Amino acid sequence: MEPLSNRGRTFQAISEQECHRLSQSDKPDKPQWVSNDSIGSGAYKPDEGGSPCAGVNCLQVYELYLKDLLELLGSIPYEWSIGPWCSNWPDSPITSTVFTSVNVEATPKMASTEDTSSFFKRADYNKDYWDNYLAARPHYDKPFYQSIYDYHKSHDGLTEMAHDVGTGPGQVATELASHFSRVVASDINTTHLAVAEHRLGSLISSHKVNLVQCSAEEIASSHPACSTDLIVAAECLPLIDASRAIHAFSTILKPNGTLAIWFYGRPIFAEPEFVSECQPLLESILDLTFSKVIKGGGPQEKAAWKRATDRMTSFLDDVELTSDVWRDVERRKWNAKHAMPFYGPEACDFEITRSSAIKEAEKVVEKQEAGFWERRWNLAGVKRFVLANMPTFDKDQQDERVESKYQELAQAMGGETAIRSITWPVVLILASQI
Ligand SMILES: C[S@@+](CC[C@H](N)C(=O)[O-])C[C@H]1O[C@@H](n2cnc3c(N)ncnc32)[C@H](O)[C@@H]1O
Repeated sequence: MEPLSNRGRTFQAISEQECHRLSQSDKPDKPQWVSNDSIGSGAYKPDEGGSPCAGVNCLQVYELYLKDLLELLGSIPYEWSIGPWCSNWPDSPITSTVFTSVNVEATPKMASTEDTSSFFKRADYNKDYWDNYLAARPHYDKPFYQSIYDYHKSHDGLTEMAHDVGTGPGQVATELASHFSRVVASDINTTHLAVAEHRLGSLISSHKVNLVQCSAEEIASSHPACSTDLIVAAECLPLIDASRAIHAFSTILKPNGTLAIWFYGRPIFAEPEFVSECQPLLESILDLTFSKVIKGGGPQEKAAWKRATDRMTSFLDDVELTSDVWRDVERRKWNAKHAMPFYGPEACDFEITRSSAIKEAEKVVEKQEAGFWERRWNLAGVKRFVLANMPTFDKDQQDERVESKYQELAQAMGGETAIRSITWPVVLILASQI
């Protein structure tokens, strides 16, 4: 039979007879799929790592252990439902039962181009999302920027050119423009750059800030070597292939140039009398909200979530700065006794790994500071933060469990309008190029 191609993937067609023969032998290595959609009634066998019959709407699966099915479906970027006989899925016992026939409804969940490591992405130009993002997130304050400028100056860094990697709405580029003669603001996503363009209008028209679409990993192919004095990567390293990006950063940095990477994680209720009740409630709201996007993705997306989660869990200690390229590496951490990831292991369907690439010569400074980047939120502030956390969160999607947690949280905060103090776990990594 002819191999079938769909969405760039190839599937090997096998005969129905062979499918039955395979399904009646011992548990086959891979599930066999029989389609009854418009393509025909032949049996299709997914090729290595491929998904079953992309574009096929209804599949019948023969002789398949349900746990294998769940594992397989979890790695495919489609919305799946199984039934109707299996309506209590996924709560039914799934470990060893063999079913003779399962109907699976499949509809494509996301375009294949979105199933990439760039999952922090707004597909549309959406100024409202970014206005909310900026209002809900911590504000990087003047003393924080000054500490970076001081480090840079103490290493004889110049102030001709700065580069804001993963600029998003461009707030860091705006600040850098007050200290450097020129600034490049780059991002992998054009829709984010369109928002930055809108927000940074006059800085762009006066050629103070230049917007560039490129990934951090590819930055050296669109910028001259030794052209930049300071590179900032704010709130984006967990989204990026760090070793490739840091190599690219070192190429475009001048000698004595500074690399400043920072990241903040999950909000912390800062007042001791509120933390024990409010923090677990906020964390379960974040877990419930994140688990919907983390657990639903395809294999590439899942790999990207794992990378991001491992890095946040490691407080970015896994980001390696080799001593042949970088000197005076400093890792300044605030509130590091709190977990960094925005969600806990409950939201993840993979194992989380903590690791460290910190060298002996590096300086690590830790501070507990309840007022660091303080925000003062009522319940609406908490909700706005949760919604603006990921571009893919759906504000119209009501979830009763989340709503009831919000009600509990309102009570624990002292009422809906009560204002509570919030701080953040933060890491700032500074390194000077040799
Ligand atoms: C959470 S936002 C941070 C925006 C801003 N820097 C801030 O501090 O608020 C992360 C940004 O990184 C960008 N990004 C993700 N992967 C990237 C990559 N590989 N290279 C460059 N930018 C990337 C996203 O498009 C997004 O705009």
